[in-house]
Amino acid sequence: MKTLIVRGGRPLRGCVSVPGDKSISHRAALLGAVAEGVTRITGFLRGEDCLATLEALRALGVAVDDNGHEVVIHGIDEEGLSTPRGPLCVGNSGTLLRLLAGLVAGYPVEATLDGDASIRRRPMDRIAIPLRSMGARVSGAGDRCLPPVTVRGGDLRPISYTSPVASAQVKSCVFFAGLRCHGVTSVTEPRPSRDHTERMLEGFGAVVERNGLTVSVLGPGKLQGRAVRVPGDISSAAFYLVAGTVVSGSSITVQAVGVNPTRTGFLDILAEMGAPVRQGPIAQEDAEPVADLQSEEGALRGVRIGGDLVPRAIDELPVAALAACFADGPTRIQDAAELRVKESDRIASTARLLASFGVRVEVEDDGLVVYPGRLGPAMVDSGGDHRIAMTGVIAGLAVSGESRIRDTACIATSFPGFVEGLCSLGADVEEADD
Ligand code: S3P
Repeated sequence: MKTLIVRGGRPLRGCVSVPGDKSISHRAALLGAVAEGVTRITGFLRGEDCLATLEALRALGVAVDDNGHEVVIHGIDEEGLSTPRGPLCVGNSGTLLRLLAGLVAGYPVEATLDGDASIRRRPMDRIAIPLRSMGARVSGAGDRCLPPVTVRGGDLRPISYTSPVASAQVKSCVFFAGLRCHGVTSVTEPRPSRDHTERMLEGFGAVVERNGLTVSVLGPGKLQGRAVRVPGDISSAAFYLVAGTVVSGSSITVQAVGVNPTRTGFLDILAEMGAPVRQGPIAQEDAEPVADLQSEEGALRGVRIGGDLVPRAIDELPVAALAACFADGPTRIQDAAELRVKESDRIASTARLLASFGVRVEVEDDGLVVYPGRLGPAMVDSGGDHRIAMTGVIAGLAVSGESRIRDTACIATSFPGFVEGLCSLGADVEEADD
């Protein structure tokens, strides 16, 4: 078990970059796999989640090279995917399981998708329902179709699907399957979710139409392999930006971060809290906007977070809750029941983490209320959730004294280099084996 010993209270100053965006890395590899020709990806996230995507594609018969500089995917185009010899392992990645299920469903192959203990608790009925109505056979355990999930794909028909949840994973799964249908496949969401799939599909040459909360894709989609440059992941940058805000005397710049408006809810939250966060000029890289982001220590206000802001900041809510601990009044996070079905139940795990640092937190069905108070060092366990582990490290840096964050190997799923980046800013974080 990997423990991080965090000695807090030192200011963090300087300039860092973060690894490539996880959502965009998955999509580039998966779409490149079914395109015609070669897709060259630079900035690909070499975290465990996205490396599992490359392995799964290889098992489906896709040629994938990684020379350390770029990931090269040789698209299968008309050849189709092959039935893998054994189960495809998605590791800890719900995104991979859901997107891959949609991709596989379009081909006459059978694949079983499985992962770690956390994956086996995550509901897949949200993709099984639309995929079945398109004609795929999808099975999993119990009513919620828990993994391992077996998908038998083939001749699909297009659907117009109204999703009960705002989920880019569900939307993307349906579109990936829709690429192989004849006709228009559309998804309507209750609130807008991240739109990387739509942007990337257009970049690969597919016809995508947006109409409010409904997005449609015309099948069969003929995709053309291309070069993709993946921007820095704003969900990773969020940890450094909050550190800049809550660690006394800090000023941190994170370079070249993706600032797609469907992902920047977290920046809106910090702005609403009054945090001094600045965004540099926006450059358009491929289909995604990119900018430098800078944060420094400042007085924070308690805020209310809910509605459309929630899907735009869903992965950043644990670390936003940490920022709220340093505000002048309570912060309420609501409309966020989706947090309960992430890598952990993040309403419970965030509350537990903050409580260990001495914060009063009220747990609600769809969110939590954070009451600022005096934080002290803590011994905490991440429960195997990477974003809880990283939030714990940032909390440790913000308080004086020594904190211990246990079970932190999971950070490598999304943010290799997290500790090294902090140390380059002046943090005192040391690794120990328990
Ligand atoms: C993701 C969508 C979000 C997010 C996840 C990545 C994606 O999940 O939490 O980390 O890449 O599509 P949901 O679609 O379940 O909200």
